[in-house]
Amino acid sequence: MDKKKTISSMSLRDRIAYCTGADMWHTKAMSRYGIPSLKMSDGPHGLRCQSGEGDNLGIHASLPSTCFPTGVSAADSWDTELLFKEGEAIAEEALEYGVNVVLGPAVNIKRDPRGGRSFEYYSEDPHLAGKLASSYIQGVQSRNVGVSLKHFACNNQEYKRSNGNSIVDERALREIYLKPFEIAVKEASPASLMCSYNRINGIHASDHRYLLTDILRKEWGFEGAVITDWGAMSDRIRAFQAGCDLNMPGGADYMEEAVLAAVKNGALAEADIDRCAERILKLTEQYPSHPGFRFDRKKHHQLARQIACESAVLLKNDGILPLKRSDIGITGYFAKELRYQGAGSSHINPTELHSVTELCPEIPYVSATDRSGNLIELSRAVKLAKRVKTMVVFAGLPDNYESEGYDRKTIALPMGYNTLIREIAKVNENVVVVLLGGAVMELPWADQVKAILYMGLPGQAGSEAILDLLEGNANPSGKLSETWPMVQEDVITSETFGTKNPCYRESIYVGYRYYDKAKIPVRFPFGHGLSYTAFHYSDPVLNGNILETAVTNTGSRSGKEVVQLYVCNGAEGFRAAKELKDFRKIHLEPGETKTVRFEVRDDFFTVWQDGGFRVIAGEYRLAVGSGSADLRGSVPYTVKGDCIKEPMRGTWYEHPLGAPSQQDFEALLGHPVPEEKEPVRGEYTMDNSCYEMMKDSLVMRLQYLFTKAYISKPFKKEERTMDNPAYHLILTAATDCPMRSLVINSNGVMSESLAEGLLEMANGHYLKGIRKMIRR
Ligand code: BGC
Repeated sequence: MDKKKTISSMSLRDRIAYCTGADMWHTKAMSRYGIPSLKMSDGPHGLRCQSGEGDNLGIHASLPSTCFPTGVSAADSWDTELLFKEGEAIAEEALEYGVNVVLGPAVNIKRDPRGGRSFEYYSEDPHLAGKLASSYIQGVQSRNVGVSLKHFACNNQEYKRSNGNSIVDERALREIYLKPFEIAVKEASPASLMCSYNRINGIHASDHRYLLTDILRKEWGFEGAVITDWGAMSDRIRAFQAGCDLNMPGGADYMEEAVLAAVKNGALAEADIDRCAERILKLTEQYPSHPGFRFDRKKHHQLARQIACESAVLLKNDGILPLKRSDIGITGYFAKELRYQGAGSSHINPTELHSVTELCPEIPYVSATDRSGNLIELSRAVKLAKRVKTMVVFAGLPDNYESEGYDRKTIALPMGYNTLIREIAKVNENVVVVLLGGAVMELPWADQVKAILYMGLPGQAGSEAILDLLEGNANPSGKLSETWPMVQEDVITSETFGTKNPCYRESIYVGYRYYDKAKIPVRFPFGHGLSYTAFHYSDPVLNGNILETAVTNTGSRSGKEVVQLYVCNGAEGFRAAKELKDFRKIHLEPGETKTVRFEVRDDFFTVWQDGGFRVIAGEYRLAVGSGSADLRGSVPYTVKGDCIKEPMRGTWYEHPLGAPSQQDFEALLGHPVPEEKEPVRGEYTMDNSCYEMMKDSLVMRLQYLFTKAYISKPFKKEERTMDNPAYHLILTAATDCPMRSLVINSNGVMSESLAEGLLEMANGHYLKGIRKMIRR
C-alpha cells in the first residue's frame, strides 16, 4: 500500500483520529481506507495479553503465557544468545494471541536501587542494557512481531512518574541514560519506541522534539513509530510537532478538537500529522497477524528454566554448594510460594508454576515467615536447623516491596528474614541463603552464612531452577548487572532520590562508576558471580586492535564464564575509573581453553563534550576479568584523540567524595536548576493530579473519594490495603496522575470537558467550571 497516498486520501479529522488508539491495546482500524488495526500487549518478560477487560497496571486477567525471568534476572545472565531466544519465544506467544507489537524491552538505567521497576530493567550500565535489549529485539522481530523499546527517557523512578521533571546534564544524558536506547536503536532497529511519562529537563517526553526527532530519528536513524506510554500524552499539538506518533490508550479523543483548530489557524502543519499517521500505518503493515500459530508451552517453560538457571548469581560459596537433597532442611515462605515476578503492567499469568516444597515434599520444611517476611514460627525453624546437616533459608523481598507505580522505601530486607537467618546461623554452621527479589538488598548477615544464591525474580520455572542449581545439575554462571552496596547510605542518590523533580546531580557516576571512583567498599561488585568450577585467564595480548585472552576451565565441572572487558581511565578527571565496553559468555568443559577476542574501538574512549562524542587522548588500560573488581589482566593502551581540556576541574565531579552540591550541579548544567513552585489553587493545570490539588480543593477531595470508591470495586474488602501491590498501584495511578492522563486512561468516563470543568472548580472558578461541564 502506498502509505503517503492512503494517508492523504483520509480526511484531516480521520488522520488526527488515527493517531490515537482505538481502545486499551489496539490502534484504530480505518476500514474505509483499507487500514486494519494493530494489537499491542505488554512485555517485557512474557506476554500480558488481555482478552477481557483491559488495563495497563496488571489488575485484570490476562491469557496464560510463559513468565520468563524478569529483566533483572535476564540481565544477570549476560547472555545475548539467550535473550535472543527469549525474544523469539515471546514472539511465538504473540503470534498465537494475534499480538503484533510487544511492549518491551525496558532499558531504563537503575539510577537508585529503590526504583520500583528495577526488577523490570536490565542494568546500571548502559552498554550491558543496550546489548541485551538489542538481542531481545532481534529475537522478537526475527519472528515478524514488532517491539516497543521503552521508556524513553530518564524515567528512573516511579514517584510522580507522570509529571515529575528529571533534570539531567547533557553528558549523563548521552553517556548513561540515552546510551542503551542508542545501542538498541542502531543495532536492532526496533519497530517502535515508547516515550515515558515524565518530563526531561522541563519538557514532557511526548512533546520532546529534541529527543524524539533530533536525537532519535536524525542522529540515530530510527525509522519506527513512537508510541506514548499509556496516558503519557501531554500536549497533542506539540507532540505531533515533536514526532510522537501514536497516543495510547484509545477511548478518549483527547485534544483532537484543539489539534484541528491548530491546523486551521496555521499553528500546526498538516505534514506533521501526516508523518505520524504514515509511521503508524507502516508499523501496521510491517507486522501483520499470522492466525493459526500455536506456541509450545512445555518448550517455553524449559527455556524459562534455562534462563533462570543461567541468570542465577552465586554471590558467595564457601564450598558448601552444590549439596545433597538428603542433607538439607528448608525454611522461608518463598519455598512454598515462589516469588517470581513483580507487580504492574508486566504481570504475567503463567502457564505453569511450582513451588520447591511441592517439587520435593520429602525435604523437611518449616515456613517460619509469612508472605510479608514477618516471623511466625522461629522456634520450629531453629529446631529443624539443629537436626539437619545444612539449612537452606529462602529470603528476599515480599511482593508488596517492588512494583510499578511506587518505589521502595529502603533496600533493607524485612526484619523477619534478617532475624531468621541470624538465629539459624547460631545453631547450624551450614547455612545457605536463596535470595529472591528484583533488586539490590542489604545483607547484614552475609559473613555469617556459607553460601548465597541470588535468583532475582526467576519467572515461572524458578523453583525447578533453584533445585537444579542447589544440587549441581546446573552450574551458576550469572553475574551481577548492578552493584550491591553495603548499606543504602552508600548509594550516591540515597539522600536525593524520590523527589518530584529529581536533579541527577551525580551525573555519570551511576552504580559502579560511582563506587569505584569514590572508593566506597561494596558488598558485591558489578559483574560479580561465582561458579562451581574455576576459570584461569591468560595475560591479555593486543594484536593490532584485537585484544585476546585465553580462558581455561581449571575445575572439574563444565561451566560458563562471562569474560568482561573494561577500559580503565585511571583516577584522574571527570571520568569513571573504569567502564564496561564488551563481554562474552563462553561455555567450557573441564580442562578446555577458549580464546576470547575483543575488537578495540575508538568509541571505547569517548566522552560527550561540546555537542558530540569525542575521543579523549590519553594513557588507558584495557582490562579483562571475571567481574569489575576481579580483573585478571590488562594491557596499556595509548589513545591519540581530540585533546580536550578536562572539564569541571577541582569540583566534586573530579573527586566525588561526599555528595555533590546543588552549586556543583548547576555549574555542570551551565545554568541554575529552574525553580518549580508547589502549585496552589488558582494555578492548577491539566498537568496536576487530583492528589496534588486536594490540599486546597473540596472538589478534588470529592473526586479523590469517588475515584477511590470506583477503583476499589474489583477488590475484595481485605484486598483494599496499601500492602496489596495491585491496590497500591492503581490507587496511586488513578489519583496521582495528571488530569490529562485521567482523561486519556479513563476510556471516556472522564471526558476532557468534565476534567476541564473540575479543574476550573479546583482553581476556585465554580461557574466557569459548571459552564465547561454543561458544554459537554
Ligand atoms: C507502563 C508501560 C506499559 C503500559 C501498558 C504503563 O503503565 O509504564 O510499561 O507498557 O502501561 O500496559
